[in-house]
Amino acid sequence: MKKCLICDGELIKFAEFGPMPIANGFLKEEDFENEYFFDLEVAYCEKSKMVQLINQPKPSQMFHENYAFFSGTSKNMGKHFELFADYVIDTHLKNIASPFVCEIGSNDGILLKNFKKKGIKHLGVEPSSNVANVAKQAGINTIVEFFDPECAKKIVKEHGEADAFLAANVMCHIGSIKSVVEAIKILIKDDGVVIFEDPYLGEVLKNTTYDQIYDEHVFLFSISSIQFLFNQFDMEIIDVFPQKTHGGSMRYVIANKGMKKISKKVGEFTNIEIEEGLTDIDKLHNFNDNCIRHKEDLMSLLKKLKSDGKTIAGYAATSKSTTVMNYCGINSNHLDCIYDTTPLKQNKYSPGTHVLIKPHSEFKNNYPDYALLFGYNHLNEILEKEKDFIAKGGKWIVYVPKLHII
Ligand code: TYD
Repeated sequence: MKKCLICDGELIKFAEFGPMPIANGFLKEEDFENEYFFDLEVAYCEKSKMVQLINQPKPSQMFHENYAFFSGTSKNMGKHFELFADYVIDTHLKNIASPFVCEIGSNDGILLKNFKKKGIKHLGVEPSSNVANVAKQAGINTIVEFFDPECAKKIVKEHGEADAFLAANVMCHIGSIKSVVEAIKILIKDDGVVIFEDPYLGEVLKNTTYDQIYDEHVFLFSISSIQFLFNQFDMEIIDVFPQKTHGGSMRYVIANKGMKKISKKVGEFTNIEIEEGLTDIDKLHNFNDNCIRHKEDLMSLLKKLKSDGKTIAGYAATSKSTTVMNYCGINSNHLDCIYDTTPLKQNKYSPGTHVLIKPHSEFKNNYPDYALLFGYNHLNEILEKEKDFIAKGGKWIVYVPKLHII
């Protein structure tokens, strides 16, 4: 049995989602035969409090020159990252003469561009060259690398120590997270800050959003597990901020022990986690039961609509949709296609389930009776943009937090 990636403790398996392909592994027909699958199983460690995948594909299988996820696809996310940068600048950089911020998994530069705009020294560290090139073309300083202690030493040598280390939806992707924290210790000044945000375990349990569980999400963080991890490196959480992004995330602000004032919120939110059972294996078993129920409800709706002769298309070929489709068994018997705005995904097929991805521009000329909203985390933005679909009689199937039709 595999051990906890944080503390080598025993892992307790609480959910299985079956054979799963790479979530962003959109593929061509000729590649169906050699498609890679792994068993998507989730476990909990009672010592570190960390929820984690038992098996993970190699990082190079997920993050490479054809990485299909571009951060800049949602307008609202653009606004979110602008506010994120304002928070960092106003709260943590304002008294520093010439601050330096470093972001890992900086993707197409959606966050760092806000620092660039204000003339703040910045560096992005991004392992997928295609998305990094988009950032570089926009003049955002970026290196194509995985972040580890060697990389941190190189950055310090070339650019000096950082005042702030940033990451958004990245830390939970890294199985070797302890080497990242080691690298952070090398990278930041003694009084520097670490600020990152990721999908939050509390929201996943509350909303049964098991689609946050896929190859790239090695961990599902809580305040308790992040505190355990950073405590091992003599660091502590100094503030926390719940976020609406990705169906419910948490932003963690961390510093070397004793260097910064700790917000009252840290203790308050930790107590809420304990009260709500986030550090309790029974709650996780309960989550697994909710996932099974969710799958049954969604599939009986799709089957009923098909037997009534309705047409259904998927909307937004998100990474998350790979878990939902493969776990529930949604395929081209249910969906005619999936519409998506990302050129790299278009005219390819969904991982594992092989539904054709069509350009979003074709949606308006081919409205289905129902659209299954895989991008529910952008619900308001999408409803606003697709008013005409509803006006023409179309209906949305939304499965978070409860299965319903709009
Ligand atoms: P996101 O929720 O960021 O996905 P993930 O689960 O991968 O983190 O959504 C990104 C995907 O959704 C991307 O393939 C583009 C697609 N998308 C649309 O097709 N239309 C839209 O209006 C939005 C907001 C996203």
